[in-house]
Order: sequence, then structure tokens, then C-alpha cells
Amino acid sequence: MKRKLWALLMAVVTVGSFTACGSSTSAPATVAKTEAAAPEAAKPENVKTQTWRMAFNQTEAHPQYRVMQEFSDSFKERTGGKYEIKLFPNETLGNQRETLEQVQAGTIEMSIVNNTHPGSVSDYFKTFDIPFVFNDIDHAIKFMLESPVMEEVKKDTEQYGFNIATYLPAGVRSMYTVKAPIKSAADMKSLKIRTMESDTYVKMMTYLGGNATPMAMGELYTAIQSGVVDGAENNEITYVNSKHYEVAPYWSETKHLIVPDWLIINHDTFESLTDEEKAIFNEEAAIAVEKVAKLWDEDVEKLMATLADKKVTITTGVDTESFRQAVLPLHEELTNANEKIKKVYDAVQAVK
Ligand code: GCU
Repeated sequence: MKRKLWALLMAVVTVGSFTACGSSTSAPATVAKTEAAAPEAAKPENVKTQTWRMAFNQTEAHPQYRVMQEFSDSFKERTGGKYEIKLFPNETLGNQRETLEQVQAGTIEMSIVNNTHPGSVSDYFKTFDIPFVFNDIDHAIKFMLESPVMEEVKKDTEQYGFNIATYLPAGVRSMYTVKAPIKSAADMKSLKIRTMESDTYVKMMTYLGGNATPMAMGELYTAIQSGVVDGAENNEITYVNSKHYEVAPYWSETKHLIVPDWLIINHDTFESLTDEEKAIFNEEAAIAVEKVAKLWDEDVEKLMATLADKKVTITTGVDTESFRQAVLPLHEELTNANEKIKKVYDAVQAVK
């Protein structure tokens, strides 16, 4: 997939609170380490290295993990070794909901969480849980990086003890099932499908004629294997890397959801940085978006090719329009229910 991500990145990506450190949110931020970049911070002789912990719920092979490793290395190097970010993959620090709580409490510094988690405290984020709210992944990326409303959205979480460091792409989600392929929304009838933990996904499944079973990622493989659910929905990378294809061998390209992930950081931790360090952090976060988007496309292609010699049935040409029609009432229901959701929804529609 070709996208003009570089051009988009030239135009944005700043954490809401970066305004507090004096960097202008309207001025274009280059992601390259050019002369315009903030000067590197030198680590004073007597300052001890601070080790931050970053939680991640999937494997070390995931593009977000690989990019965060590089983020950590660059941030350490550019702050003269003052900060070291240690990554904990595979839910070793807890599931995403638990790690959000830990970030809020300051018991860990950072995590990557899916959208439902900021959405549990800030209504603005709920817009991104709406199925088919974005036309495609390019629309989502363009909105995230260009829309002026995103500053307000990101800023909203600070009162809850955490900052949005950056949006991270997380692909396009499709259905996968144990027994039979899904060719249109009619095939969803009575299926028990694992979803992420938000009311919107529960409603989405109801509109599709199935039943949602919300749960954390780490429990899913066993839940499918033991028949607790008939399937799940996710992006290709999680489907392959987390080996869900072993227990749910029907992958059907329903492409019903494009949901962002968020790199989050404890508010006080972020505020403890000097202006110079915030600028470095900001720059590295912007670089990470670009890297994840690029690796994502490469990985999807490579990983799906590995399924060729596995007993997996891939169904393309799904009647996605039947899915869109079935869940359309949700658009109205949610935008009527809440002004913040409506504000972001309208902004999404305005970016084409
Ligand atoms: C995606 C997303 C994760 C999320 C997962 C899930 O893989 O990138 O952040 O946890 O879906 O379905 O729980």
C-alpha cells in the first residue's frame, strides 16, 4: 500500500502537552533528525540512569514492539543515557486495562493500549471504536496526523494522569472463526465472537446478529481452543503472530474496524522531562509512527504468505457492504448520545 506518510508526518504529531514545553503545535514538525532538531541533552555526571517500564501485550515480533525498542535506544542515546526504557512484552506486566491503571498510578511509566482504554475515561476516543468510521487505513492515518481536533482529544487524558505520546497504526480488523468462513453479515448469526472491552463492540456484534464476548488478548487463544468463543476479530499481524490461526483457521476479510493504538506515558513522568528532553521524546514518537506504518504493510504481506502451507482458509471478496449497512445505526446512536463523540466524528468526516 502506497501512502504519503512522510508528507503527513512533516505536518504533525505532537503530544497535547508538548505545547507546555514551548513547541508550537501548528508549526510543521520534521521527523528527521535534522539541524532543526533540539540539541542532544547531555547527562550530568552525577545523575543516575532512570529506568522506565513500558508494557506491551503482544510478542517481540510485533512491529510496534520492534519500533519501540528502537525508540528506547534512540531516546537513551539522545539523552546521554539519562533514560532507559525497558519493554515488557506478552502481557508480563498485566493486560492492557491493568497497564493503563498502572500508568495512571505511576507504578509503571509507559504502555501501548488499544483505543478502548483511553475511551474508558475520555468520550472523545469513543468515536474511533465505531465500525467503518474511517474509509480505509490511509484515511485514519491522515486524520490522526492532520486533524486539528486531535490536540484537544489527546489533551483530554491528562486530567486522568496519563498523556498520549502518540497514535500508533494497528491495521484493519477482520473476522476469524473456528468452523466456517464469513462471506456476508448474515453468516455472523448467533456466533460468539471475542471483542475488545468496549460497549460499542458489544453493540456492533448485536447489530451483526452475533454475540460479543469482551476479554483481554492474553486469554483469547485458550478461549477459542476451549470453545468459549466461536472466533474473534483482529488484524493480520495479531492473527498470525499470536498463532490464533491454529485454533480459528477461517480468516475472512470483513475489514469492519480500523482502531488506533496509543502509546501512553504517565503525566508526571512526562512533565519531569526538561523542555529539551520533551522535544527529543516528541521527535522520536513521530518517527515511530512512520516506522510502524511501514513495517506493518511489509509484515502483513510476509505473515499472510506463511499461512499458505497451513490449514487456513482465507476468504477475500467478503460482502463488506452488508457489514457496513448492519452497523450503520451505531453511527447515529453514538453521535446523538454524546457531543464529544460527535465533534470528533464530524472532524473525521471532514478529512478525506
Ligand atoms: C490489536 C491491537 C492491540 C489490541 C488487540 C486486541 O492487536 O493492536 O492493541 O490489544 O488488537 O484485540 O486486544
